[in-house]
Amino acid sequence: MADQDAQSPVGIEPPALPSIRWAGLPEGPAVVLLDQTRLPAEEVELLCTDVPALVRAIQTLAVRGAPLLGIAGAYGVALAAIRGDDMAEASGLLELARPTAVNLGYGVRRAAGAYWAALDRGEGARRAAAVALAEAEALHREDAEASRRMARYGLALLEELLPGGGHQLLTHCNSGALVSGGEGTAFAVALEAHRAGQLRRLWVDETRPLLQGARLTAYEAARNGMAYSLLTDNAAGSLFAAGEVDAVLIGADRIAADGSVANKVGSYPLAVLAQYHHVPFIVVAPTTTVDLQTPDGASIVVEQRPGREVTELTSSRIGVGGEAGGVPVAPLGTQAYNPAFDITPPELITAIVTEEGAVSPVTGVGLAELCARSSQV
Ligand code: MRU
Repeated sequence: MADQDAQSPVGIEPPALPSIRWAGLPEGPAVVLLDQTRLPAEEVELLCTDVPALVRAIQTLAVRGAPLLGIAGAYGVALAAIRGDDMAEASGLLELARPTAVNLGYGVRRAAGAYWAALDRGEGARRAAAVALAEAEALHREDAEASRRMARYGLALLEELLPGGGHQLLTHCNSGALVSGGEGTAFAVALEAHRAGQLRRLWVDETRPLLQGARLTAYEAARNGMAYSLLTDNAAGSLFAAGEVDAVLIGADRIAADGSVANKVGSYPLAVLAQYHHVPFIVVAPTTTVDLQTPDGASIVVEQRPGREVTELTSSRIGVGGEAGGVPVAPLGTQAYNPAFDITPPELITAIVTEEGAVSPVTGVGLAELCARSSQV
């Protein structure tokens, strides 16, 4: 089915520019982002030279995806420290820029904690700023390493669940190099399968309303030479019914202590479909995405986005956050329901793969053990 519709790979290259980098003097200081609102049409960097600019980049999704938000938040703290900004205010602005991805607050608190600890040791503000930057760089490196490890554990799990290879994997939203210091979370597992000759096809959900699947995952799949096909989100049901999906791989924005997973809206319906069709539903996320302070799915704050993202169709250069850029597709004044994420309960999840290994079945105890292992290193 649909073989005739498969996209031919268009190239074998990683994204042209890093999703995030730090620019020191004389260029900076600045946090430099690959502007994801302009992909795939243009590969353009966005220079953020102060915290308000970075907050705006976070809110308009120029930078997005849980692990990358953590790295951005940490670099933002370093930027504020080097500029001599009010550190409590800057940290607060960054941490609150988006509410659901737990990594954002994690990255901010980690760099800010290093800064305050340096001051407490009697190191001056300049030295404390350097310490904050070193912490952000360490988080960046650790995330790249976590990506590598998740990819290996994820592929091992696929081999166990689906012996024989030739997988048709379905993914939602974007979870590749564009969300990470490395090659990503769920997408990195699909990429590992591709490199091992085990991927027959990656099914890419377009991911309404902001098209992270169509604009970003298809871009990454093409650049990596993977066989992929794009589908509208509502075509997934018939694809499962036709037996064309062997496993679902998604990332996560926050994982509660009971194993409930917040991820891009549309993930939960896929989990329901996967269970009905007896297809593994696998979540891939670093332990930094696990939030043991949030007890369950109902306690996760789900970001509500502007209705214009739904009442208007976006084009290649996406207009997000209510900005101009879309073509109206609903009568003027139409109210929209536009949550950015939904919650999948643990009983619908076959496994959660982290850099410390996989937990399956998904239990709070199993998750807590993985997190304890990661904090021991
Ligand atoms: O609104 P976004 O684009 O930031 O949402 C991102 C997602 O939902 C990803 O799937 C999630 O961050 C997991 S990938 C690390």
